[in-house]
Formats: sequence, structure tokens, C-alpha cells
Amino acid sequence: MAAQAAKRINKVGFLVAMQEEAAPFIGALKLQKRAPHARAPIVVHEGSYKDATVLVYSPGVVDGKSLVGTDAAFLTAFLAAEDGLDLFVNAGTCGGFAKRGGKVGDVYCCGEFKHHDRRVPIPGYDSMCVGHRRATPAPGLVSKLGLKTGLCTTGNSLDCSPTDAPIIEESGAVCKDMEAASLAHAAELSGTPFLAIKVVTDIVDGPHATQDEFLANLSTASKALQKVLPEVLDYVTGKSVAEL
Ligand code: ADE
Repeated sequence: MAAQAAKRINKVGFLVAMQEEAAPFIGALKLQKRAPHARAPIVVHEGSYKDATVLVYSPGVVDGKSLVGTDAAFLTAFLAAEDGLDLFVNAGTCGGFAKRGGKVGDVYCCGEFKHHDRRVPIPGYDSMCVGHRRATPAPGLVSKLGLKTGLCTTGNSLDCSPTDAPIIEESGAVCKDMEAASLAHAAELSGTPFLAIKVVTDIVDGPHATQDEFLANLSTASKALQKVLPEVLDYVTGKSVAEL
């Protein structure tokens, strides 16, 4: 563990669920597409940015639609870990919460992750299924880029069902997404440090239908990612995990 904390970061893997979210960043960095994976539909782009080797991993596309959700995300990160990365960065969109100060366009560096749609009321199974995990602490990054922080709650639906709502409320989540908690789990299995950078596309407790607000803001949020991700790379490259 001490050796990992001291190792310099120069190979960074971005985990991005949707092609739409990844495309501006891939284009800006002129990353090249890797040959298809033999056993999974994951899409990998690679190249370099300043002193860093950069890889962008997406779960893939079926019938023109990106494979969102926890299963494809977990598989992607599990396979990506075979590349021996110094750091995973989940980059993507999320829902925000007006009651916790969230606004469309806010950028979060999430510190904790939970699942909100895994309800198993049996002692031990309850907490194991909720899967409370933490990101690698990055106080310097948060302060340098002026990012918001808090817990990201993950589930496999875009909507917020009446069953999920009180669970999310109790967690105190500031972001709601469909991948981060599973990616944190895969990162933990491979011992890869993990950060999550999330841009808010829609307000969970706001007046608009989530899917309409999400689609209306996806392109703007993806451009915001294109701006913030190189700043993240600039900050992390050459530092040790302990210096983040
Ligand atoms: N991604 C973007 N907005 C989301 C939301 N409200 N719920 C889950 N995933 C999201």
C-alpha cells in the first residue's frame, strides 16, 4: 500500500459510460481507437497528453445506444485493469439535487459511493449490497479545480422511483448516476486508485422530467467534461496518489 501511495501517476484510465460523453475528450486529445476486444464490446481509445499515457474505456454500443448501467460498467473497469493503470477516473454525467445546492453544469469530484437499488434486509447482506466505497482522497485536486464533493448514489434506472427516493435521501447523496459505485468496486478489486468526476445534467428533485432535462443538457455537459478532464490530467500527472 505504501509503495502504491508513493508511485508517480503517468498512466490514467478514464471510464466513460456513454460515447456522447467521451467523444469531445477523445477528439480533443486525438486518441486512437484500439482494435476490438476479443471477448467484450468495450471500446478503448489511447494516446498521450503531455507526459501522461491516457486511455478512455467505454462499455460499448448496441444498436447505436451506449451500454449504460452497472453490469457493463463493472465489466469495462475489470477488463481495463488488465492494462495496469496508475489511476482510474470515472468521468460522466449525473443527476444533481436542488435541496443540496446542485445545479445543472456543476462539476463534482465524488468522495463516496453507494448503491440505492440493492435492498436485501438480511444482516450483513444489507450493507454488502449497498457497497459503501470511497474514492481515493484528492483534497488538492478538489481545491485547485474548485470542484464540489459528496456522495454519489448509483442504480440501474434514470428515474428516481418512490422506493429508491427515501434510500437516496438517507444517503445524503449529491449525485445520482448509473455506474460509479460499481466502478469503485472493480477498482478496489484491482487495487487501482479511483476518482469520479461528474457533471450535472438534470435535477432529480427539480420540476423537469429527468430524461428530457438529461437529453437537453448532455451535449453541454460533455463539453464541460472535455474542459475539466485535461485539467484533472494536468493536476494528477507526475504526482503520487498521496499527493492528490
Ligand atoms: N445520469 C445523468 N442524470 C442521471 C440521473 N438523474 N440518474 C441516473 N443517472 C444519471
